[in-house]
Amino acid sequence: MALLVKHLHAFVTESKLTKEEWMKGLEFLTQSAAITDSERNEFSLLSDILGISSIVDVVSQPVGGTSSSVLGPFHSHDSRLQPNGVDLTGDQPGDRTWLHGYVLDQEGHAIENAEIDFWQNADNGLYPAQDSAQDPHNLRCKIKCAADGSFNLLTIRPHPYTVPTDGPVGALLAASNRSIWRPAHYHVIVSAPGYIGLVTELFPQESDYIDNDTVFGVREGLIVPFVKSSNVEIANRYDLDAPFYEVKFDFKLVKQT
Ligand SMILES: [Fe+2]
Repeated sequence: MALLVKHLHAFVTESKLTKEEWMKGLEFLTQSAAITDSERNEFSLLSDILGISSIVDVVSQPVGGTSSSVLGPFHSHDSRLQPNGVDLTGDQPGDRTWLHGYVLDQEGHAIENAEIDFWQNADNGLYPAQDSAQDPHNLRCKIKCAADGSFNLLTIRPHPYTVPTDGPVGALLAASNRSIWRPAHYHVIVSAPGYIGLVTELFPQESDYIDNDTVFGVREGLIVPFVKSSNVEIANRYDLDAPFYEVKFDFKLVKQT
């Protein structure tokens, strides 16, 4: 707290903050509180767009594993455990994408008993929490990886989306001439006994806004190619029209000490 107060005082002194600006700041916080509830947290969004969530993530990341990234507001703890290889697509629209890879330790050896928690937005850019037409479990699942650390699932290509703009943070972004967009991404949490859990995201390399993520979540090692594939075995397994997209990514976890 002493350090926070020191820097807040330094900000006021350096900016020569006026009483009007100070009152405006208090109003902003009051408005943020007024629209914050169990479903929506404007303070969390404020932290995200100021880059604070992201820098907390960077300074707390263990050395040597896959880069972490922001959790975002749409994670649900109650995702269902599905078989490795699950088809999450059903009959919804979207470019079919086979996501696969391994969960490895820092030396590249398979980690046993690893688990993947996966979620993303639908073809209309919305998460189930934003779209009552979607099943609440649409495009999210947990998977127990195989003994060799491998995992795979069939999903769709994710889409860019905007952060909520109907609150004071939206007004702040507009006043600052800031983008309201996030690039497309998959969300993944990777965990395994004895290893530090990883909260991260994967970004299609050709996604719009990849170099201008309004919450600063993109890390170089998390940008992945979506390769067009005609793998016959996979096409037959999921009854896919070729070509479909294929994304391969190996997650590296750091041992707990
Ligand atoms: Fe997201």
